[in-house]
Amino acid sequence: MMNLGQNTESRGGGVRRLYVDNAATSFPKPPEVLKAMVDYATHIGASAGRGAYAEARASAEVLKNCREKLNTLFNGENPNHFIFTMNCTDALNLAIKGILRDGKGGGRNGDHCVTTWMDHNSVLRPYHALAQSRGEGGGGVQYTHIAVDPVTCVVDPADVKKAIRPNTKLIAVVHGSNVTGTVQPIREIGKIAREAQILFLVDAAQSAGHIPIDVQADYIDLLAFPGHKGLLGPLGTGALYIRPGLEKQMTPLRHGGTGSLSEQDIQPDFMPDKFESGSHNAIGIAGLAAGVEWVLQKTIHALYQHDQMLCCTFMESIDGIDGLRFLGPQGIKNRMGVFSVRIKKRKGEGEIDPLQLAHRLENEFGILTRPGLHCAPLAHRHLGTLDTGGTTRLSFGAFLSALDVRYAADALATIALSYE
Ligand code: ALA
Repeated sequence: MMNLGQNTESRGGGVRRLYVDNAATSFPKPPEVLKAMVDYATHIGASAGRGAYAEARASAEVLKNCREKLNTLFNGENPNHFIFTMNCTDALNLAIKGILRDGKGGGRNGDHCVTTWMDHNSVLRPYHALAQSRGEGGGGVQYTHIAVDPVTCVVDPADVKKAIRPNTKLIAVVHGSNVTGTVQPIREIGKIAREAQILFLVDAAQSAGHIPIDVQADYIDLLAFPGHKGLLGPLGTGALYIRPGLEKQMTPLRHGGTGSLSEQDIQPDFMPDKFESGSHNAIGIAGLAAGVEWVLQKTIHALYQHDQMLCCTFMESIDGIDGLRFLGPQGIKNRMGVFSVRIKKRKGEGEIDPLQLAHRLENEFGILTRPGLHCAPLAHRHLGTLDTGGTTRLSFGAFLSALDVRYAADALATIALSYE
């Protein structure tokens, strides 16, 4: 097993803190990420494309370097097809609003798009917003939410196929669920989309940096991902991969200065400038490049194995704890290290409020989790947890050890026992 370090040591004041909220943002970051950001701030500090001096050129080099590493990790065709965004939500908005069109008058339907019950509000809300906006006399964008397996929450690719209509333009699927850790069969779904000549958008908010993704082999047209989760960069970073050629069909979310073709009143139509107006988060991108390099050095396959080991250890450790249940896949198949748990009170008294459970985990054990709906209301409706406060979520990362997840399991066992 890789030695990725542990997270259960006392930090300041002797208080033990165990961070298991890596689905929100990863922590800690590799020291290389912090060093890259300090180096940028100390020695570069300039804005890419906004000066002719060496520091501005060095800043452009930071961006180029990061795009090249992303292109390697995801097996892209061209580094310039990785567009920097603020986060994964921003990347999903660019993909969805850049592609879908409403009826624009004349009575024709808007584009139809498909997503699943497991998808996040960062897909559901842009779809909904486009469905609400109508061209005069025309129809808004239409959407279909595909049902998932009652327990595993896996989508049946055959259901995706059935949902396709003559005006279907886009299929968007969340790769790893931020609620249940369910991993969807993206390659099978992507193949269906490609055969039907429908664009395939993968929301890799949880999977990028945790699970191997190959945009070419997985038939991905658009890959949205955060820089600050599995890729170990800082908050405020993310990117959208756009398959070469597809950018011609897309409109930017923002127009403005690019440091290129400044004499023209129209946005440049080449990559990446078409979609990157305004000054970049260069310091964040410097950190992101170091994070991606860290992932490449460890290898994505080894990180994936590590995540699977943590899942198995956690599931073994909580097996048989009376009153404790976790949602989603009950084994390692189609699963990653995101666990939503609920704990029963005494017989007939229902379950502990997820927020209260999170408070107990923090106050009594120093374990940091995220309670609530996790911005995925359809997933919680499907799981029956929408109206009861959602779940308490533990989400793993590269710096956790088997010892750490056993500690979390022991804490859950102690709490469950306290309600017997
Ligand atoms: N979507 C992120 C989460 O699940 C922020 O916490």
